[in-house]
Amino acid sequence: MVTNSKRVTRCSQAMAELRRLELVSSTHEKQESVVQTIAVLGVGRVGSAVARTALAAGYDTRVAGSGAAEDIELLAEIVIPGARAMTATDAVSDADLVVVAVPLSKYRSVDASMLAGKTVVDAMNYWPPVDGQIADFEEDIASTSEVVSRYFSGSRVVKTLNHIGYHELEDDGAPSGTAGRRALAIASDDEAAAAAVQDVLDRFGFDTVYAGPLATGRAFEPGTAIFNGAFSQNDLLRELELNLHPTH
Ligand SMILES: NC(=O)c1ccc[n+]([C@@H]2O[C@H](COP(=O)([O-])OP(=O)(O)OC[C@H]3O[C@@H](n4cnc5c(N)ncnc54)[C@H](OP(=O)(O)O)[C@@H]3O)[C@@H](O)[C@H]2O)c1
Repeated sequence: MVTNSKRVTRCSQAMAELRRLELVSSTHEKQESVVQTIAVLGVGRVGSAVARTALAAGYDTRVAGSGAAEDIELLAEIVIPGARAMTATDAVSDADLVVVAVPLSKYRSVDASMLAGKTVVDAMNYWPPVDGQIADFEEDIASTSEVVSRYFSGSRVVKTLNHIGYHELEDDGAPSGTAGRRALAIASDDEAAAAAVQDVLDRFGFDTVYAGPLATGRAFEPGTAIFNGAFSQNDLLRELELNLHPTH
């Protein structure tokens, strides 16, 4: 029997790290974000909303589906005006950040080699009623993003954006400093990549909380309080602590 505490490893360290990065985060707010170009893979509900949000935040934004650029050109023009429709390979080629927003059942259809060296946001969730039962996730006790990260082994994978509804992404964003501003959780084994994504999400309109390594992403997968709710930064910190450190 695998306990929750075994599944979510290094919780205490993660929470200590969390507090440290909270400090780092406030320093980051004063720095210029290094991300200028964002590629979004998947032009469905989430991908479209992420791309519109990225455009509104001033990012050079490219979008790609699973096929040719022409397949999504009209859709992009109507639904995401200002975004450049491309093939996935072209979209990610010089992107500073790639958001993968495809159904989790399709994650292996994304060419991992083209994402090598990239910071990749995993916005995907395992949702068996929609995805069907996927052995990769049924048979593995790791968080879904750890499994995804093994596949995208040459990339710096950051889990976030999975626990906000696609419509909320545009509705719930607010300027930095707004009281009660909604916060999003971030998990990554790469702290620099997590910090870069924190900056981007700030420009998207959200506070953030770095939960720790990818294993901690389990705390905001489907079925959790964080997945089902909307929290300010302080409340999200508390929810993460409850989930990752249940005895405290
Ligand atoms: N719905 C939400 O509110 C929400 C919120 C947060 C996270 N999520 C997660 O985000 C993911 C996407 O959800 P969704 O609701 O946006 O799904 P969706 O509306 O079905 O859109 C998925 C898109 O991915 C594209 N796609 C499939 N394989 C691809 C590939 N290899 N490369 C590029 N594009 C590809 C599909 O287009 P073609 O196959 O036609 O090219 C489709 O347009 C899921 O894992 C979901 O759990 C959903």
